[in-house]
Amino acid sequence: MSDTLSPAEAGKFAAAMASVAEIEDGMTVGLGTGSTAAWMVRALAKRAKDEGMTLTCVPTSERTAGLARALGLTVVGLDDVDRIDVTIDGADEFDGHMRLIKGGGAAHLREKLVAAASDRMIVITDPSKDVETLGAFPLPIEVIPFGWKGTEKRIREVLAASEVDGRETVLRMKDGAPVLTDQGNYVIDAHLKRIADPESLSMALADIPGVVEHGLFIGLCDTVIIGHPDGKHETRMHDQTPAWGDVIMELAALLPTA
Ligand code: 5RP
Repeated sequence: MSDTLSPAEAGKFAAAMASVAEIEDGMTVGLGTGSTAAWMVRALAKRAKDEGMTLTCVPTSERTAGLARALGLTVVGLDDVDRIDVTIDGADEFDGHMRLIKGGGAAHLREKLVAAASDRMIVITDPSKDVETLGAFPLPIEVIPFGWKGTEKRIREVLAASEVDGRETVLRMKDGAPVLTDQGNYVIDAHLKRIADPESLSMALADIPGVVEHGLFIGLCDTVIIGHPDGKHETRMHDQTPAWGDVIMELAALLPTA
């Protein structure tokens, strides 16, 4: 199969194949959105069928829900489950701290909700998404259509006060009309080039009235599987080692006060 694919697609395919090995019978699985996630859904459906596995799947978009249903997977909504064992999704960028930019497919709102409800989030990707610093990929920001121009103005004010190298914002369009998300919202893409402090930017954007969700995923992903064009893959796990500063603060809190 991977012989007929471009190098990038072969890498995505390899990562997707490796990720479904993490799934066990009886699990509730979050299904991501995008071309890499679509490979994973196909591989998961095949494995479930071949091995007679019972899985409950929570898709992150109507697109993924349609594909999963067509392949015979059991699809439910997020409110139909108490928790999700593992979500497998793609990403537009990831850095060394497993911080992500997502939303290239305009699905980041549901993707973040599903990831937040999951015990684990595995990102599957080809090597091109591995970055030193987030920001080369435009950051998607989902906004409510009502008053979106005012929301965009407030986003620009936040960007003006943020440590980023670019500040252009563009309403995402397709066929002459704004792209609508599954929630019926617009997406503004912020061309930031370099995001020096993703945590601060994440909080500042989330605080803007009219912003529903942005594509910075922080503290959600614990595993990244990088697929290579030759079919091999590597798995990176989040470093759980606490920073020395945190250890000292915790020990200090245990000392008796005078
Ligand atoms: C959709 C996403 C996708 O995961 C991201 O855009 C990666 O897509 P692809 O796997 O097609 O490269 O965030 O909202």
